[in-house]
Amino acid sequence: MCGIVGYVGASAPSSRPRDVVLAGLSRLEYRGYDSAGIAVATPGHDAVALAKKAGKLVNLEKQLAERPLPESTIGIGHTRWATHGAPTDANAHPHLAAGGRVAVIHNGIIENHAVLRDELLAEGIEILSDTDTEVAGHLIAREVLNGADLATAMRSVAKRLEGAFTLLAIDALEPDIVVGARRNSPLVAGLGDGEAFLASDVVAFIDYTRDAIELGQDEVVRISKEGVEVFDAAGNPIEREPFRVEWDAERAQKGGFDSFMDKEIHDQPTAVADTLKGRMDDQGRLVLDGGIIDPYVLSSIDKIIIIACGTAAYAGMVARYAIEHWTRIPVEVELAHEFRYRDPIVGIRTLVVAVSQSGETMDTLMAVRYAQRQGAPTIAIVNAQGSTIAREADAVLYTRAGPEIAVASTKAFVAQITAAFLLGIYLAQLRGNKYPDEIDALLDQLEEMPAKLQRVIDESEPVRQVAKDLVDERTVLFLGRHVGFPIALEGALKLKELAYIHAEGFAAGELKHGPIALIEPGQPVFIVLPSPRGRAELHSKVLSNIQEVKARGAKTLVIAEEGDEVAAQNADHVFYVPAAPTLMTPLLQVIPLQIFALELAQAKGYDVDQPRNLAKSVTVE
Ligand code: F6R
Repeated sequence: MCGIVGYVGASAPSSRPRDVVLAGLSRLEYRGYDSAGIAVATPGHDAVALAKKAGKLVNLEKQLAERPLPESTIGIGHTRWATHGAPTDANAHPHLAAGGRVAVIHNGIIENHAVLRDELLAEGIEILSDTDTEVAGHLIAREVLNGADLATAMRSVAKRLEGAFTLLAIDALEPDIVVGARRNSPLVAGLGDGEAFLASDVVAFIDYTRDAIELGQDEVVRISKEGVEVFDAAGNPIEREPFRVEWDAERAQKGGFDSFMDKEIHDQPTAVADTLKGRMDDQGRLVLDGGIIDPYVLSSIDKIIIIACGTAAYAGMVARYAIEHWTRIPVEVELAHEFRYRDPIVGIRTLVVAVSQSGETMDTLMAVRYAQRQGAPTIAIVNAQGSTIAREADAVLYTRAGPEIAVASTKAFVAQITAAFLLGIYLAQLRGNKYPDEIDALLDQLEEMPAKLQRVIDESEPVRQVAKDLVDERTVLFLGRHVGFPIALEGALKLKELAYIHAEGFAAGELKHGPIALIEPGQPVFIVLPSPRGRAELHSKVLSNIQEVKARGAKTLVIAEEGDEVAAQNADHVFYVPAAPTLMTPLLQVIPLQIFALELAQAKGYDVDQPRNLAKSVTVE
C-alpha cells in the first residue's frame, strides 16, 4: 500500500538518483498506482525539484520526458494507493514544505492528522492537499527551520504521529542524506557500494544490492554515501545486522512473459520445490527459518488457529483439512480482521499460525500481536524475508516463492499450502500421530507435486481457450467440496479481482440451501471434482451436484483427475489434472482457475498485474 523509495549516492550531481528512484518505483508499482511522484535535491539549490502526476507511473514518465528534472545527488519517489484525498495531482506525493526546501513521502495512515492540521493552520501554514502526509511534511519543516538537522526533526515529529507510517524526507540544504522513520509499516535499507537505498520492499533496489537492513518499530534511519545509520526513538544509535536477500534481480523480471502474473503462475512448480527444500533434519524436525518454539510447547497445544486474509486465508483453509487429519488437533481458520475483534479463546496452548505473502498485512500483524498478548505461541508462514510479521512472530517458516509482483496472488498460495503441510507433518511426527514411515511417505508425495504442477501448466491450453470464449459472461459460479471448497473460493476471488465480473464460490453441498436459485440456462459453473480414487463418496456427491446445476441449464466446467471418464460425461468442458493424494490435489486444481481468470481478464483488455482499486500489500486496517 504505497511504495516508497529513497536514494543517496552520487558525489556530483547526475541523473542516477532520478534513474534509480524511477526504476524502484516501477518495481514498487504493485503497491499502488493511483499516482506517482519524485523529488530530487542538488547542492547549491535551496529548494528541491519535484514532479508528480495522478495515474500510473507512465504518466509521470511522460511528464518527465517533456520537463526533465535537474541532475541531483539524492532523490525520493512514491507510488500511491489513495487513502486520504482523491487520486489527483495535488494529492500525489512528494509533498513540499518550507517553500520547497523539504519534501516528504509517506505510506500508511496518520490517525491524528486532523488535530495536527488545525495546529498548523492556526500558525498560518498553508496546506495544499487533502492528505495526512502533507501535515507531517510541515511539522518536519518547522523543526528544520528552527535549526534541527533532518534526522532529529524526523525523530521528534514521528513521536507526535499516531497510526501507521513509513515517512521519508529530504532537505534541499542537506543534499547528501535521506531520512526515514517507520511504525507498523515496512521500511528496508539497501547497502550499496558508495550508495544507499531506502524502500518499502527490497525489490526496489535488488538491481543494485542484495544486502539489506530491516528497520524496527519506531526507528529512524539516515542514509548517506557512507552507509546506513539507525537510531531508536530516543536518538541512540542502534546496530542492526544486515541480511542477504535469497533471490536475485532476475527473479523480479517478467522473464519473457507478457505479465508478472503469467510468469508467477509458471513459477509455481519451483515455488513448491524451493519451499520443500531441506526442511526436515536427520531427526525429522522441521527446519525453521528463524526463531524457535519449544517442541514441548508444540507437543502440548490443544488447538491451532490459522489467521490470514484473502488468498492466504484460503491457503489456510486447505491446510486445515490436512493438519486436522494428520495431527488430530482441532484447527480453526479465521480472517485476521475478524479474529481479534470477537474476543477469541486463545491461550498458551493455542498455536497461532499467521499466513501472509507480504508479511506486512496490517490485519494479520495486529492479529499476531493480539494472540501474543494472550500468551499464544505464534508461527508465521511468510514469503517476504525480514518483513514485520516474520520478525514479530515467535518463529518463521518462509515460503521461498521468490518475489510475487502481480497484485493477484498465485505462487504464494501454493507455497503457503506447502509450508503449512510441512508444519502439519512435523506436528504429526512430534506428537506421534504418524509412524516414521508414514511421515516419509507424506514427504515423498509432496516431493512429487512440483512435476505435477508443471504438467498442469504445460497442458493448460484448453482452459485458456474456454476463458476467451466466455469473455462476455457477467457472472461465474464456483463449487467445491472438502479441499475443493477453498479452491472454489480462490477461483472466484481471482476472477473478481482480475476480470471485474461477479464470481461466487460455494461449498457444493450448500447449493441446494439457496445458491441453486442463481442457476439460469447458460450460467457457467466451475466445479472442482474430487478424485474417484480418494474419497469415492465425495466424488459421487459432487457428481450429483453437477447433475443438479446441469438439469437447470448451467454450462458445467469441471476440473477432474486424469482418467475420470465419468467427469467428461457430465461436463460441457473438462480440465484434467494429474492424480495426487486427496489432500494435495488443491495444489493442482487451483492452477486452471488462475489461468482462467488471467486469460479472461486479458481477453477483456485489462491489466492483470495491476487490477483496479487494489494494492498488493494491505498495510491499513
Ligand atoms: C488476492 C490477494 C489478497 C491477499 C491478501 C493477503 O489475490 O492477493 O487476497 O492474499 O491481501 O495478503 P498477504 O498474503 O500479503 O497477507
